[in-house]
Amino acid sequence: MNIKIGNLIYQGKAKGIYETDDPKKVVVEFRDDITAGDGAKKDKISTKGFWNSIISAKFFEVLENAGIKTQYIDLIKPGCMLSWKLEMIPLEVITRNIAAGSLLRRYPFQPKQTFDPPIIQIDYKSDEYGDPMLNTDIAIALDLIDEEKLKIIKGTSLKINKTLKDFLESKGLLFPDFKIEYGYDMDGNIILGDEISPDTCRFWDSETCDVLDKDLFRQGESGVIEAYKRVASIILDDEDKKRWNIEL
Ligand code: TMP
Ligand code: ASP
Repeated sequence: MNIKIGNLIYQGKAKGIYETDDPKKVVVEFRDDITAGDGAKKDKISTKGFWNSIISAKFFEVLENAGIKTQYIDLIKPGCMLSWKLEMIPLEVITRNIAAGSLLRRYPFQPKQTFDPPIIQIDYKSDEYGDPMLNTDIAIALDLIDEEKLKIIKGTSLKINKTLKDFLESKGLLFPDFKIEYGYDMDGNIILGDEISPDTCRFWDSETCDVLDKDLFRQGESGVIEAYKRVASIILDDEDKKRWNIEL
């Protein structure tokens, strides 16, 4: 693929977005930076960006195959994803199947209590304000989104959840919760963007309940990269490993 990478147009805490010679496309660079607590805890973990880009690419492909449009075009090389350019909506859309994390700190749920239907929680993406949870009235009053678009986002998130949960369960992983972000493409359609990786999801081994995601880093435990690699080795098939030249 002959794509020229241009200027950095957005620098996030773990990814950078670069323009390309095609105004409709960007390159997403997955870096090794890892943060928690809105950036209060910071580190670099060698090869983390590499694994997150591959895991995200695989999930985006699973979703595309289920008819869900995503920002993903191709993995140019591990760590570097060619994507459609989106105007991102500053919302963090969290879907929860099993009670964990901040839900247990904030509400009297039982650990590992399951939710059917899943819970959808929408937070305002703002480090300055600490990503506060929104309700429909606040989101509309802040001019972040309208009611009709919120409905589309919730419906799409439930479909994404069902697709990924079925896929992961078939591989022996539980999918307690995950966070996704959406943006508008050039025609104003709402499209799934950002990443879907152990930085933004919880994955538990269904037999042992081993934690295989960023909670290890959040809790100061070791074995972060080993857990991310284990997720990759579980979700990738032999064909994926071959085309992305990965040894696991
Ligand atoms: P929480 O239980 O800490 O609210 O996290 C819910 C899900 O959202 C979990 O899968 C991790 C993900 N997440 C992010 O992707 N970014 C964040 O800043 C936070 C707090 C959580
Ligand atoms: N995304 C948040 C941060 O970058 C924290 C988290 O994922 O827990 O600080």
